[in-house]
Amino acid sequence: MSLVTTTDRSFNLLNGESLLEGLERTGHEVEYQCRSGYCGMCRLTLLSGSVTYAEPPLAYVGSSEILPCCCTVTEPILVECRLQRQKELPLDVEQYTFDY
Ligand code: FES
Repeated sequence: MSLVTTTDRSFNLLNGESLLEGLERTGHEVEYQCRSGYCGMCRLTLLSGSVTYAEPPLAYVGSSEILPCCCTVTEPILVECRLQRQKELPLDVEQYTFDY
């Protein structure tokens, strides 16, 4: 189990879970397309710790970046990633409460 700390919270990865899957399970907002290291859409900034890759990803990865879809987290890491924002109600919609 690896400890992942993001901008908004901390969580442990489950056995066999990729970092991308862990971020999705815990409600983080992370973009993706290929989920296998080709497109680079999931790229995140790594603030501390390190990850490894079973195979070098085809997408460009900068020195302080990681691809959560295909990296392996082997130690506690800190990444720049936020929780999904709750959808706000349109301004002209009022909320009602009902008493039963
Ligand atoms: S989703 Fe394409 S590289 Fe991660």
